[in-house]
Amino acid sequence: MSSFAYALQTTIGRKILTGLTGIFLTLFLIAHLSGNLSLLIPDGGEAFNRYAEFLHDLGPLLWIAEIILVILFLTHAYIGISIYLNKKKARPVNYSYYKSQGGPSKQNFASRSMLISGSIILLFVILHVMHFKYHLFSPETYMTSYDGQEMVDLAKHVEVAFLNPWIVAAYSFVMILIGVHLKHGVWSAFISLGAKNPKITPVLYTVGGVVAILLAAGFLLLPLYIYINGGLS
Ligand code: HEM
Repeated sequence: MSSFAYALQTTIGRKILTGLTGIFLTLFLIAHLSGNLSLLIPDGGEAFNRYAEFLHDLGPLLWIAEIILVILFLTHAYIGISIYLNKKKARPVNYSYYKSQGGPSKQNFASRSMLISGSIILLFVILHVMHFKYHLFSPETYMTSYDGQEMVDLAKHVEVAFLNPWIVAAYSFVMILIGVHLKHGVWSAFISLGAKNPKITPVLYTVGGVVAILLAAGFLLLPLYIYINGGLS
């Protein structure tokens, strides 16, 4: 049995894998948001399109990164669901009946809703990639060219989507949910990786909260800005 398959079957292995995959997914979100924020540069989307084209030009390197990303998402989701099912088997009391534990257990709305927030985020990612990467919900693939180089006008795809109030509402809801998921997730990932020193855990809890708020606010900014502004600048 491979060490990966073995880790999936032990409690400690699962904890370490959820923590590690969660941290790598958070790093992906930070990188994704940094690239997306170039949409706010008032150049009609050129910087964003050039950045996306640069990534596409990486070819096989990008495919490898995408395969790793899919493995990270699926492993994280699989372990998250199985940890929930194991807990439920061990103590079949509905989470909504739990009272806040306060203190170091950090049981709260965010921690109890990890399964539901995670499932909605996973569904969102599937639809989001179908929409923005494969343009499955767009009437056409918009193209543009800079200095004679033709490329997909991804910025236009994002702009058209975020002029639709239903899409803006759905994105806003999911971005808030991502904040809720990360609020508990980042802290919990560090604990799963062994950071249990009582002097460090309050710091990690605060760091988790700050990362969650910054990422959720950053992602929320894009649909709201484009919608309120009536398009890209
Ligand atoms: C306002 C928020 C967001 C915008 C405007 C946005 C925009 C985009 C765009 C334009 C692409 C296609 C990139 C390309 O084809 O090169 C993309 C891909 C992707 N996005 Fe987002 N995104 C947002 C939020 C998110 C969030 C919150 C997640 C995860 C929870 C996410 C996960 C992904 C993934 C996994 C891909 C596929 C990456 C790849 O295969 O290279 N996105 N996004």
